[in-house]
Amino acid sequence: MTILVTGGAGYIGSHTCVELLNAGHDVVVIDNFCNSSAESLRRVQKITGKSVKLYNGDVRDAKLLTKIFKDNVIDSVIHFAGLKAVGESCVKPIEYYDNNLTGTLVLLNAMREGGCKKIVFSSSATVYGTPEKLPLDETCKIGGTTNPYGTSKYFQEIMLRDVYASDNDWTVVILRYFNPVGAHESGLIGEDPKGIPNNLTPYIAKVAVGELKEVGVFGNDYDTHDGTGVRDYIHVVDLARGHVAAIEKIRNSGVYTYNLGTGIGYSVLDVIHAFEKACGHKLAYSIKPRRAGDIDSNYADASKALKELGWKAELGIDVMCASLWKWQTMNPKGYNG
Ligand code: UD1
Repeated sequence: MTILVTGGAGYIGSHTCVELLNAGHDVVVIDNFCNSSAESLRRVQKITGKSVKLYNGDVRDAKLLTKIFKDNVIDSVIHFAGLKAVGESCVKPIEYYDNNLTGTLVLLNAMREGGCKKIVFSSSATVYGTPEKLPLDETCKIGGTTNPYGTSKYFQEIMLRDVYASDNDWTVVILRYFNPVGAHESGLIGEDPKGIPNNLTPYIAKVAVGELKEVGVFGNDYDTHDGTGVRDYIHVVDLARGHVAAIEKIRNSGVYTYNLGTGIGYSVLDVIHAFEKACGHKLAYSIKPRRAGDIDSNYADASKALKELGWKAELGIDVMCASLWKWQTMNPKGYNG
């Protein structure tokens, strides 16, 4: 099949391109490189020995989108392109809604015009807001998001359901990611955040190489086994494979929603200690106040994806940390080093 991957040069997008190419699919990417590097796609090609067709541009560019669907026979779209930093979204809500919502609308319109009605959407566990119960399953209520990034994911899910309601020929697959971490085993592709990382594991990796002094642990008075926040960390390669499973297994039209997580929660301190094993030395950390908007615990019931897609996460926390450490040490300055 030929798959259009929007945002295919990004962290999750690049790992998904590798898995799609390894599974024998053809891959077309559109990316504007606002938060990624073309180098990641060169490395995707190096890992797989296969080529990716690249369109350098923005998903909000309707003319370009129309051209992509004219130039290629696209079977399905995997839609990653969008802005994703929680803190930044509170400062730049207009940019976030424009990129994420306008981008999705322009894409959906071009798909309809081009006769392609199968989309896999990159959503997030953030749509559950404060969890109604744990583990979270796909029937839990969504909404109550606390920042424009999360709200944009929630709105996009609603938009996609409305599109299906208006035309039952569409196939909409919504994948709700828990916390993607780690890197490809080659060490060639990984997460390359700009500036000081906001997320836990890239921050830990920079402390481990000595670029940052210590990990700030945001709160140790949560209702968890050691007082620090618990999350469901999923290896990015497992996550990428979840997309391939969705593309290959879902044949009938409809709206399908799946959690992609491991079902296991690890605390901030658990992750720091797992990373110490991977890098072979102790890591400095200190307890800081809670970060606004954080919750105690978040982890998935991922049984629906196993039952319907035959997919489950296979790679554990030690592999996640070891692969991130390999990526960090091989690419201390990311793709531009
Ligand atoms: C956040 C986003 C989520 C997004 C995910 C991407 C929210 C509320 N969160 O999840 O949508 O999909 O990033 O990976 O929308 N922590 C520290 N010190 C740090 C950084 C983090 O102690 O320097 C703690 C946090 O308090 C939290 C855990 O580590 O308990 C994970 O944080 P983070 O990696 O930022 O992910 P989330 O906030 O869970």
